Amino acid sequence: MNQSIEELIRIKSWNDCFLLNINIIDKEHERFFEIFDTLLSVKEDAFKHKNIILIVNELEEYAYQHFKTEETLMKKAVYQEIETHIVQHNQFLEQIRYFQLLYNPSKDSLLDELIAFMRKWIVTHIYDEDFKYVEKIQLYLIKDEITRQQKSQN
Ligand SMILES: [Fe+2]
Repeated sequence: MNQSIEELIRIKSWNDCFLLNINIIDKEHERFFEIFDTLLSVKEDAFKHKNIILIVNELEEYAYQHFKTEETLMKKAVYQEIETHIVQHNQFLEQIRYFQLLYNPSKDSLLDELIAFMRKWIVTHIYDEDFKYVEKIQLYLIKDEITRQQKSQN
């Protein structure tokens, strides 16, 4: 964590400094950054509007699924700050859904606002919130694996 939040916000795509060392979550975060980058590249396209809607829909669906993954693991790991964390996830989804409702080709500034919001949110959320549950979920996964191995031996 040597880089400042401002520096990280400028990073367009996935960076290993976002790794939580929880395999399933890291893979999903990486995929999310990939879809986000697609949105950035389509933004420069002359025939972009239809594609922007498609990619934003994909981001919304992917974020929804990914948040479910995190929330399920937080629940299983009995993570104390789960409620605050879920509020943040819901705020992110609300912002995307607000864009989906209002966006049309004459409202390009809305897209810039969405991109700026998402970039800042993703980075600060991973650093300020996701890193907090790492220990608890890692411990849960280790215990879960041990229980599974014991069951298969009996
Ligand atoms: Fe999260």
